[in-house]
Amino acid sequence: MGKLVIVSNRVASAAEGKSTAGGLAVGVLDALKRQDGLWFGWNGKIEDPAQAGLSSYRIGRIDCATTSLSRGEYDTYYRGFANGTLWPAFHYRVDLSRYDPKEYAGYLAVNERLAGMLTELVDEDDRLWVHDYHLIPFARACRRMGMRNRIGFFLHTPFPAEGVLRTIPPHRDLVEALCEYDLVGFQTRGDAQAFIDYASRRLGLPLETGGMLRTRSGLVRVGHYPIGILPDDIQNKSKARSRSKLVATLKQGLQERKLIVSVDRLDYSKGLVERFNAFERLLESYPAHCGQVSFLQIAPPSRSDVEGYRHIRRQLESTAGHINGRWTELSWTPIRYMNRAYERSALLSFFRASQVGFVTPLRDGMNLVAKEYVAAQAPDDPGVLVLSEFAGAADELANGAIIVNPYDIEAMARALDQALNMPLEERLERHGHMMQLLKDNSIRQWRDHFLADLEPEAIAA
Ligand code: G6P
Repeated sequence: MGKLVIVSNRVASAAEGKSTAGGLAVGVLDALKRQDGLWFGWNGKIEDPAQAGLSSYRIGRIDCATTSLSRGEYDTYYRGFANGTLWPAFHYRVDLSRYDPKEYAGYLAVNERLAGMLTELVDEDDRLWVHDYHLIPFARACRRMGMRNRIGFFLHTPFPAEGVLRTIPPHRDLVEALCEYDLVGFQTRGDAQAFIDYASRRLGLPLETGGMLRTRSGLVRVGHYPIGILPDDIQNKSKARSRSKLVATLKQGLQERKLIVSVDRLDYSKGLVERFNAFERLLESYPAHCGQVSFLQIAPPSRSDVEGYRHIRRQLESTAGHINGRWTELSWTPIRYMNRAYERSALLSFFRASQVGFVTPLRDGMNLVAKEYVAAQAPDDPGVLVLSEFAGAADELANGAIIVNPYDIEAMARALDQALNMPLEERLERHGHMMQLLKDNSIRQWRDHFLADLEPEAIAA
């Protein structure tokens, strides 16, 4: 069998693991750690790619090959169609999604160019695994260049219901492009169903047994593959860092107070304003917590040159400032809001030092922070996860987390109060359920399940 080739817009850097990359780079890296392969994508730089060429480096057994984007490509493909149109619409923020046909043309052109570069690196029997919304037309570009390899696609974000998808003008072209893959995978059953509904209703593609859509050129398999983590590895890392200077400093600042913790890229899909408001509502409705609990929100800035992101940043600064201005005492700051990144192992040790993980996106494909929070807990004194029903992770963690609607501020405040007061016995039981589930569906199962379904026999079966 040939090698596995991973294609994604964002490729883990040689120093990965040291900072908070988005979920994709962390997840793919964990999935590939112990296997040979090639990982191809953008190097994060804006320069003339003709001059920069292809740069290569190794992470463990993975060969990484990356290229730059020109300023025009970055503006149309990454900042434009991928993050100005697809990302907001896929997260149901049609109010923030804009469309410019020039950006769509740039998006298609970058997919063509990357596919062209990849043909030089791929052998006939290699399998390709393409990731995320930046690369929806990638298989079609590869096919046009004559590649006959098996190509699978996995979407890390939600896939929206038809009514929302149709707000993206080239919706039909996008779904047709997805149908050029041999396998299309989603995070949840609901996402996969939304895709099938569109393909069968709008494109008239018949659905055959085993989740297969029949297209003009053959069969495309559709499935859901919830991405996991390495729970034992996370448990070990959080334990190892729990006696670090950093955790000692955090605890010193808390002075025995309880800690609620959240970590997100600073993104409007994460529900940060609603979360801040829910914390304030906790102080108003349950005054016994005043002075007794602090909320630490770590939110490294992301995609800061896209307007929606600048706006949410301003909004959060004013919300945090307003709440702290109202509630802070000489010896207590209610919200600690930090726009900086920490090493992943440091974050895990913060999770372990906290009583509540507050993960309340308005929409999220999976949300690996929710899973990492659970895995990082001390098994004999675990914290409680408060989780949005709109995170993909809620499908799996509903038995152990307190599930909330992030639009319901009062209910979130109530959930925080319940979490902060939860007796040890109940915390142990909930944590035990979730830990078992994370072990049964680790990132290795995710990888193995997806790659098994990409085999030709699986399609034919
Ligand atoms: C999400 C997306 C990824 C992306 C990551 C970080 O997790 O699904 O595709 O890589 O955010 O965003 P960025 O734009 O910095 O790559």
